[in-house]
Parts: sequence; C-alpha cells; structure tokens
Amino acid sequence: MNAKELVKKAEEARKLSYSPYSHFAVGAVILCKDGQLFQGANIENSAYPLCMCAERNALYNAYMHGKRKEDIVALALTADTDGPCAPCGACRQVISELMPKDAKIYMGNLKGDIQETSISELLPFAFSEDDLK
Ligand code: THU
Repeated sequence: MNAKELVKKAEEARKLSYSPYSHFAVGAVILCKDGQLFQGANIENSAYPLCMCAERNALYNAYMHGKRKEDIVALALTADTDGPCAPCGACRQVISELMPKDAKIYMGNLKGDIQETSISELLPFAFSEDDLK
C-alpha cells in the first residue's frame, strides 16, 4: 500500500472522529507487515485533558489486536490543515516506544499534501526505557 492509499485510509478513519469541542477531526492508520490496517480517530471529552489523539488510538488498536512494534511498517495521519498534519508531542513519545525507529510516517491533509518522515526526525533525543535503568 502506497503513501497516498494509506492517507486515504486515514481520511476514512477521520470520519469516525468524535470532536465536538475542537471541531478538529483527525484520522490515522497503522499498516502492518502482513498488510493489516488499524484505524484510529481522535475521541474528545468534556474534561478536555482526556481527549485522545487519532494516532494513539490507531496504535493502541493495533496492539489490542496482538500486533507489536516489529509488526508495524507505517503510520499515516490526516486532518484539515494547511500543510501536512504533524503528530503532537505526546503521540511522538508513544510512537517512539511502540513503533520501530525505521517505520515510515506519512503526514497528510485533505488537500492531498503528503510528507514522509520518521520518528527519529520527529523526536530526536527521545526519553526511553533505557533511561530508567
Ligand atoms: N489531535 C490528534 O488527534 N492528533 C494530533 O497529533 C494533534 C491533535 C486531536 C486532539 C484533539 O482532539 C484535537 O486534535 C485538537 O487538538
């Protein structure tokens, strides 16, 4: 599955966003080695800090279906932004632990812009389990 097709899947997931407070819908999808896809959208709450991002919902969806770091090859996300939509800092931290360092990250938007990046580029010097030792 190519970047454009993956971002389309993220766009499909975005339709399931529950975002009555920000009115900012985000969609994401995880692609696994076996071709399986796991979608996520942002789900908000009137207690604002409890809002959950699309990227983390997609990743947790994959993990809840038994997938692990080594099974994942890519993440795509999209929203109605001017440029390609970038993952927030909290999602970057979670991605750095739950996805392989070399996994592709495709940041998209509804206009069809797509930028390829990686977690090493998005979160250099990440805190990790090694720091706890
Ligand atoms: N949001 C995401 O789903 N992913 C991001 O990386 C950025 C922010 C959501 C959280 C909240 O529901 C809304 O977008 C506005 O911040």
